[in-house]
Amino acid sequence: MKKTVAIYPGSFDPPTNGHLDLIERGSKIFDQLVVAILRNAEKAPLFSLSERVLMLESMTASFKNVRVDTFDGLTVDYAAKIKAGAVLRGIRAISDYEYELQMALMNRKLQPDLETVFMMPAEQYSYLSSRLVREVAQLGGSVKDLVPEMVEQRLREKLDPAIKLQSAREPKARKRG
Ligand code: PNS
Repeated sequence: MKKTVAIYPGSFDPPTNGHLDLIERGSKIFDQLVVAILRNAEKAPLFSLSERVLMLESMTASFKNVRVDTFDGLTVDYAAKIKAGAVLRGIRAISDYEYELQMALMNRKLQPDLETVFMMPAEQYSYLSSRLVREVAQLGGSVKDLVPEMVEQRLREKLDPAIKLQSAREPKARKRG
């Protein structure tokens, strides 16, 4: 029987609960889902590629048909390389539609056999984006419920290196408190 492999490409800087919601939905309709993080040398990401891989691997560990990978170059070339038949993308609001439509149609022009499948995340994530999470966290706001706890902790460590130093020195004391 033919198995459908899909890729879920993105920057994931950082991965959010909206991404996780979409991964869960995608894992139910595809035989295999590959979360593909773009290695983009042009942007200066907050989290390194390996940090994003680790976060996504930990977030998706319970989904047996999901794996995490990285890619550069064209999405369509990466999809062909791993024999994926579909690209999964999330659409949160009408404002996403224009950009996503452009990308889907360009990908179709480049590779007519590759289908783009759009899914809607749960309503509570409809305003959520990695960019807003970075901004809120950088300005000291709470991102609780918007990203997994482990990502929240990593954001805290990233934005205040003193926290990382402290938790490395006093792991037991912090756990008890
Ligand atoms: O999470 P993002 O930043 O919205 O993801 C955008 C992504 C990675 C899907 C897009 O930039 C992409 O596919 N980049 C790879 C290069 C490529 O294929 N460009 C042409 C797409 S039309």
